[in-house]
Amino acid sequence: MVGCGIFGSIHARTYSEYEKAELAAVCDIDEARARETAAKFGASSYATDFEELAANPDIEAVSIATPDFAHLEPVLAMLEAGKNVLVEKPMATNNEDARKMINTAKEKGVRLMTDFHNRFSPVFLQAKEAIDVGEIGKAVMAYIRLANTRYVPFEMLGWSGKSGPQWFLLPHTVDIIRWLISQEPREVYATGSRKYLKKQGVDAYDAIQALVKFDEAFATFETAWILPEGWPSVIDFVASIVGTEGKIDLDAARSGISVAGEKFSHPFCAGQQEAHGRTVGFFRLPIMHFVDRVLDGREMVIKPEDGFVVTAVIESIEKSIASGQPEKVEEL
Ligand SMILES: NC(=O)c1ccc[n+]([C@@H]2O[C@H](COP(=O)([O-])OP(=O)(O)OC[C@H]3O[C@@H](n4cnc5c(N)ncnc54)[C@H](O)[C@@H]3O)[C@@H](O)[C@H]2O)c1
Repeated sequence: MVGCGIFGSIHARTYSEYEKAELAAVCDIDEARARETAAKFGASSYATDFEELAANPDIEAVSIATPDFAHLEPVLAMLEAGKNVLVEKPMATNNEDARKMINTAKEKGVRLMTDFHNRFSPVFLQAKEAIDVGEIGKAVMAYIRLANTRYVPFEMLGWSGKSGPQWFLLPHTVDIIRWLISQEPREVYATGSRKYLKKQGVDAYDAIQALVKFDEAFATFETAWILPEGWPSVIDFVASIVGTEGKIDLDAARSGISVAGEKFSHPFCAGQQEAHGRTVGFFRLPIMHFVDRVLDGREMVIKPEDGFVVTAVIESIEKSIASGQPEKVEEL
């Protein structure tokens, strides 16, 4: 496990709880964090340099949960060393890096999966089932919005100015719509604002809207990092899909609980929640799926190309914001 931050801890915890896996080693450039994570989740060793994990012949698979812009080097080091890799989303923040990862995995004959965990979220699984059995006919149009309160760029992430809602949030929504409607994205037209956060010292997009043309359907992707702290959850996550015979609406931010005290909140507990010494929630499922498929060699739900397509759409979104023109989505 490389990168022992917020999400890396979820990977480490899952490996430590899953009976088919053994947490061999954790790595973080912050030594205290690596040491504490190893102690907390029972890893046999810890390191501050990911090359140590790459050189360890006992390690078969590695999760990479470094910041969005820092996936390439550890991913390539692990693939080159013949290890299977589960990389956090986005796979990469440019098409070239994603291509390098995919080609290296192919050359080395190892598995490479991007952690698009919403494919394991009950609401999206239910939507997928409804679409696949034909309940809404053929998808015509979709809308999806995933946004964060200002807490995320200002307090939660130490590296927000080196990413943005396009790399932190759009990977989830681009992947999920493509997966739900089973169509390929071809062209993007996007606009974005980069004023408010910049003025406050975080050089990132405030908000983005992108219209993406798929093979037949089209979808609007909306994201923002400037929701007020008074919003009852750290995320705002809604979607609707209109088909020839029906419509699906969902609110993926709501786990069905409201808490009113000094503040009013909708805690998001569907992803990961303490459960009497273990964890429940869908965040652990793709990590367990990765372990299962590494062990049995069967096809994974998330294929290497899926990581590329998402990166390619977001790269085109950035290009379109800059050019003011529609931009084609590159193919692998
Ligand atoms: N936080 C979330 O809600 C969330 C959700 C889904 C996915 N993710 C993804 O997970 C990844 C990590 O995000 P996070 O929120 O956990 O960030 P984080 O800042 O909490 O953790 C990143 C960790 O990586 C370490 N690190 C940086 N460079 C390193 C290197 N070269 N070698 C070893 N360790 C290194 C940092 O010291 C830090 O501990 C990102 O790609 C992010 O998009 C985060």
